[in-house]
Amino acid sequence: MVKESTIRLMTRLANENQAVNLSQGFTDESAIYEMVWGGIAASLGGTQDGIDRLEGTTIKDVLDKTGGSVEDLMGMKLKDVLKTLQNPKDAYNQYCYPFGLVELRNAIAEYTQRFQGFRPDPETEITVVLGATEGLFTSLRAICSPGDEIIVMQPYHEMYPSQAEILGLEAKYITLIENKEKGTWELDYSELEGIITGKTKVLVLNTPHNPTGKVFTRDEMSAIADICKKHNIIVITDEIYEHILYDGRKHICMAAMDGMRERTFVVNAISKTGNATGWRVGWIISPQAYTTRVRALHDTMVIQSPTPLQKGVVKLLGMDDSFHKNMPNEYARKCQVLTDSIKSIGFNVTPPEGSYYLFADYTNVPALKSMTPMDAAIFLIKEVGVATVPGDNFYAIGNSGDSYLRFAFCRSIESLEEAARRFAKLR
Ligand SMILES: Cc1ncc(COP(=O)(O)O)c(C=O)c1O
Repeated sequence: MVKESTIRLMTRLANENQAVNLSQGFTDESAIYEMVWGGIAASLGGTQDGIDRLEGTTIKDVLDKTGGSVEDLMGMKLKDVLKTLQNPKDAYNQYCYPFGLVELRNAIAEYTQRFQGFRPDPETEITVVLGATEGLFTSLRAICSPGDEIIVMQPYHEMYPSQAEILGLEAKYITLIENKEKGTWELDYSELEGIITGKTKVLVLNTPHNPTGKVFTRDEMSAIADICKKHNIIVITDEIYEHILYDGRKHICMAAMDGMRERTFVVNAISKTGNATGWRVGWIISPQAYTTRVRALHDTMVIQSPTPLQKGVVKLLGMDDSFHKNMPNEYARKCQVLTDSIKSIGFNVTPPEGSYYLFADYTNVPALKSMTPMDAAIFLIKEVGVATVPGDNFYAIGNSGDSYLRFAFCRSIESLEEAARRFAKLR
């Protein structure tokens, strides 16, 4: 039976125990303003004309609208000022095409061209969905039937096996192995090829990877692509951390690899790039032959992603290159603060190449080394005041997860410094 997400459980325990929450991958800092404004403008502006009017509205216009008295305007609540600007006509708080606003699908096409070098057709290949979570679920259902097998790399994001279970699919696991000397995580291609059967339909590939921080290189992607072509396997890629890359690493999109466009579903979302995990806007780029099915599934389950938020996301995707290029810098600083802190109490960690997690070995931390990952995580919440996620939560087979805890460093520097102060108690 599908169980409660351990990651969400850790967040709940963090809140109950006033712990610094480094368990779930979401920030405590503001969402990207341009995007937030785009959502507000759509919701208040109501129509494209209304949005254009709002975008050009000055304080002087507001003054005229509210009767011309500066005194009166100064005393008004912002909420009441904004009400005077609300358009009585509305299109953007209503249903839109279930598969997404045309302007957002166009923006996704441009964005994909800009960053991945190919332009999916907004009419036949792009479907806007409720975040990467729905993107993965809908893609799996569009490709597979109950009884089919999918390949998942462990450690994994917990939703992959849970969704497989709901859909009656059998998840088969291959294991990324930490190479501490080389400072990276490695995949054994013969293990991958060996697990394929006549029922294997899909390989789920997450790069940059949660929880290890691995960024698959072009050579690795190419080797995986060759195996998938040889065995007629479709790849679903989870690219939600595509811009969070360290030390000049490049994100490679599987759909841009030779001969892979027609066998790749790209799943992406603004949850991490927009600092807005609660917005629930993502997309699937599917091979044309599957798009009708993807859209029918999506419409039947949830109809659509929120219309005004889709308008906000158009703004996010249009941000200039420097926004995306600079994104990793702040994360790199945060990563350093947390890495220094946990290493000083005995954790061992391979530096992440991308994403925003540390998957750290605690077997040399005196206070934790004799504990199971769950006991270690509970101890850290209750006795130290920091929430993490037990490593075995990311594994289905074997015991490789038993020595790890996962830390998310996407929180504010102040939160990370507070966590560091609390960890110092364990020195
Ligand atoms: C690898 C990965 N995929 C998907 C998700 C969920 O994405 P969304 O919030 O867009 O559904 C997460 C969230 O942490 C994640 O780490």
